[in-house]
Amino acid sequence: MKDILERLEAKRAAAIDGGGTKRRANQHAKGKLTARERIELLLDEGSFEEFDMFVEHRCADFGMQDNKVPGDGVVTGWGTVNGRVVYVFSKDFTVFGGSLSMAHAEKIVKVQDMALQNGAPCIGIFDAGGARIQEGVDSLAGYAEIFMRNIWASGVIPQISVIMGPCAGGDVYSPAMTDFIFMVRDTSYMYVTGPDVVKTVTNETVTHDELGGARVHAAKSGVVDGAFENDFETLAQMRRLIDFLPLSNKEKPPHWPSFDDPNREDPSLDTLIPDNPNKPYDMKELIEKVADEGDFFEISPDFGKNIVVGFGRLDGSTVGFVANQPMSLAGVLDIDASRKAARFVRFCDAFNIPIVTFVDVPGFLPGLKQEYGGLIKHGAKLLFAYGEATVPKVTVVTRKAYGGAYDVMGSKHLRADINYAWPSAEIAVMGAKGAVEIIFRGEPDKIAERTKEYEDRFANPFVAASRGYLDDVIKPRETRRRIIRALKALKTKEVTRPAKKHDNIPL
Ligand code: HXC
Repeated sequence: MKDILERLEAKRAAAIDGGGTKRRANQHAKGKLTARERIELLLDEGSFEEFDMFVEHRCADFGMQDNKVPGDGVVTGWGTVNGRVVYVFSKDFTVFGGSLSMAHAEKIVKVQDMALQNGAPCIGIFDAGGARIQEGVDSLAGYAEIFMRNIWASGVIPQISVIMGPCAGGDVYSPAMTDFIFMVRDTSYMYVTGPDVVKTVTNETVTHDELGGARVHAAKSGVVDGAFENDFETLAQMRRLIDFLPLSNKEKPPHWPSFDDPNREDPSLDTLIPDNPNKPYDMKELIEKVADEGDFFEISPDFGKNIVVGFGRLDGSTVGFVANQPMSLAGVLDIDASRKAARFVRFCDAFNIPIVTFVDVPGFLPGLKQEYGGLIKHGAKLLFAYGEATVPKVTVVTRKAYGGAYDVMGSKHLRADINYAWPSAEIAVMGAKGAVEIIFRGEPDKIAERTKEYEDRFANPFVAASRGYLDDVIKPRETRRRIIRALKALKTKEVTRPAKKHDNIPL
């Protein structure tokens, strides 16, 4: 028995050694942690149960039969985050550059299947060179098996991808199908084809970072939902995010003890809206003043900044906040903002998370760039997402709600449940100046008088309230209490919609 135990220990030690001391030191020298160190930081101390640490590849080409490392470049298993079960795989760059063989893919598929069967989130940590070049088509088959699990699990369990090194070729499409992608600044990059291929095909000269660094994807392409300073911060933020999410679509949003009084009023909100309607204010201030303990996990803070989305809690339970941001492009809806918010609204709806919307929107952004870019289709995504969402929806119009954007942003007409407005709300087809220039074109000398007339009539919430499109006009200071009470009344909401295979959202 002693011999067998020693053999077991030796095998385990070989797996833990991965690509060896030198490659691990290289990893650290690049400012990156190893696959196992990352799992340790992500999960509760001592909670990790590893699977398949003795799995080896079965490739016999290019001398690979003599080059095997137990574990085959990915560490997989399950553990807990603040006591709640999550499944995890973490690519080990020190073993064949974390590249994917069939055996490596089978390990990932196993945790994906278990996560789906047991209703727990699946978190993938990426640091890899794509398909194992020595394996050929087996590697491609392995990727496709992973993709299929991503598709099956979508809307059933939260799937999160964390990019902590290279992520190229086959490795990018699995993250792309998960709910959230996060990256580490300076040490990670993500692209379909690397700088060399780009140079050959398009003759563009770019660095890894210019092509697919964290800043590019967090701010320009919108592919990732956030970028953090280093491995430590990223993993700590992932733990924070997981606390906001239900484990599966069968669960209600998680409830954590809250020490923030649900009846708390905030008098400073009464002066949040500037006297001048064209002056911006920070919508995040409103979110932070309403949410429990001001705790707000923002999604995609650097992309489509004219809309703010993210998770917070109200009276201990998770809600999704969606809010126009007057500080950026006056809070207008454009392609990026519509795409970003639509995806977030759909995530909330899939996972039973109520949606709280704060509206201050002057309309959709005009212009050639927007129209050529397909604003019609992208704007429709948000419209569609709000309309199809059956979770509790509470909307508060703080200031402008003009035109089609009024309809889109969680209006009563798209079946929001409870709609409030602040007294500062202006709900109309368009702003007074633009409206008067159109309808009183023949009276240039009376523009000022007519503008005043239009403002008196429409720059308020009372026309909408008189139609029942708003349920009440509330004092800004009482916003938190009123939303919490509204959500209490909606806890048992049930909605039936026509049966269908699935919708055909304007992609
Ligand atoms: C096998 C690989 C590998 C791969 C890296 N390695 N990528 N082994 N298959 N795809 C190995 C290297 O041989 C090396 O082994 C070790 O990992 C570290 O790699 P380095 O190149 O030394 O590291 P670095 O300089 O940091 O560069 C990282 C890299 C580069 C940019 C990722 O390795 C690279 O370009 N790799 C190839 C990427 C690629 O073309 N992949 C295929 C994509 S096609 P040693 O023993 O020296 O430590 C694809 C199609 C799938 O994925 C499509 C499915 C839909």
